[in-house]
Amino acid sequence: EKGGYDHFMLKEIYEQPRSIKDSMRGRIYPNEGKLQLSGLKQYEEKFKNADRIIIVACGTSWHAGLVGEYLIEEFARVPVEVEYASEFRYRNPIISEKDIVIAISQSGETADTMAAIELAKERGATIFGICNVVGSSIPRLTHAGVYTHAGPEIGVASTKAFTAQVTVLTLIAFYVAQIKGTVTTGKLVELLTELESIPTLVEKALKANDLIVKIAEELKDSRNCLFLGRGSGFPVALEGALKLKEISYIHAEGYPAAEMKHGPIALIDAEMPVIVIATKNSSYEKVISNIQEVKARKGIVIAIVTEGDTDVKNMADYTIEIPHADEAFLPLIATIPLQLLSYHIAVMRGCNVDQPRNLAKSVTVE
Ligand code: M6R
Repeated sequence: EKGGYDHFMLKEIYEQPRSIKDSMRGRIYPNEGKLQLSGLKQYEEKFKNADRIIIVACGTSWHAGLVGEYLIEEFARVPVEVEYASEFRYRNPIISEKDIVIAISQSGETADTMAAIELAKERGATIFGICNVVGSSIPRLTHAGVYTHAGPEIGVASTKAFTAQVTVLTLIAFYVAQIKGTVTTGKLVELLTELESIPTLVEKALKANDLIVKIAEELKDSRNCLFLGRGSGFPVALEGALKLKEISYIHAEGYPAAEMKHGPIALIDAEMPVIVIATKNSSYEKVISNIQEVKARKGIVIAIVTEGDTDVKNMADYTIEIPHADEAFLPLIATIPLQLLSYHIAVMRGCNVDQPRNLAKSVTVE
């Protein structure tokens, strides 16, 4: 049932070209620059007039929410707040009937996310769900929603569910942009055409596996790791750090690269590996100076770079290339090497990758 792979996690990492494709199948029409999300159709007016969107989720799904914030604000121009479901539910949050709450959950059974939904519903918000497990509890609590079509995810560490959630959030951002007219049809043609090619780019990113095994060999005995990224690369850094701590039990933290100088830089020495998302996009130059700061303190830099990059290659200890894509799609591709890296480190450390200690696949208690 692991399809020839040693672990479910690895199988699920490799399924991503497929699960991303399945999550957009029948929903995008690149030639016409159009999208169709049947779950959203009925609430089109709500989305058009929403004052803001609040995303609630936990763990990896919360990281997907942060990517969603970036995409929805960028393209649909609606203010977005992303909340940990567990905090939201106990904070007496201000919610009105003009608010849309998007709940994200792979399992559809997470207790805190369910409680957040119930609270927001009582206060009159429209609740929209992004879930993977058909027939689970959360889709029954929401007014409407869109399923991710990642297929069953068995490994406790979420991988293909994350990229499927990000895919669906991308569709929602583009859909709302379409109905609000915040993006031209011409631009949507361009974006959707590129989105359609993402599974192929993910396939290419997976080819870095052998190199990543070598890097994992170097990092496997580290006690700490720092993950840095900017813009939509920041949630990718958070997700990379969560994956590593969850399955390899190495302490890891994700930070927005520019925040390093406000504290974490004090940790950097020759024992501290720093994994940096340094792809060619709007923050490229800034990230380069962050890398220089790390190198000046003898930190070990592992950089995720755009294919063909030379500047970062000259500075970093290791570079992992990923194919070029529009900034909007960066998280879908840059996440892949980080999943592989934590997977291999955990295997080398002899950890139970699919069932890490103290964790369950669905957290049904608060
Ligand atoms: O099923 P959900 O998406 O609601 O689960 C949320 C978190 O418990 C989950 O993402 C958790 O953080 C994963 N183990 C991360 O890999």
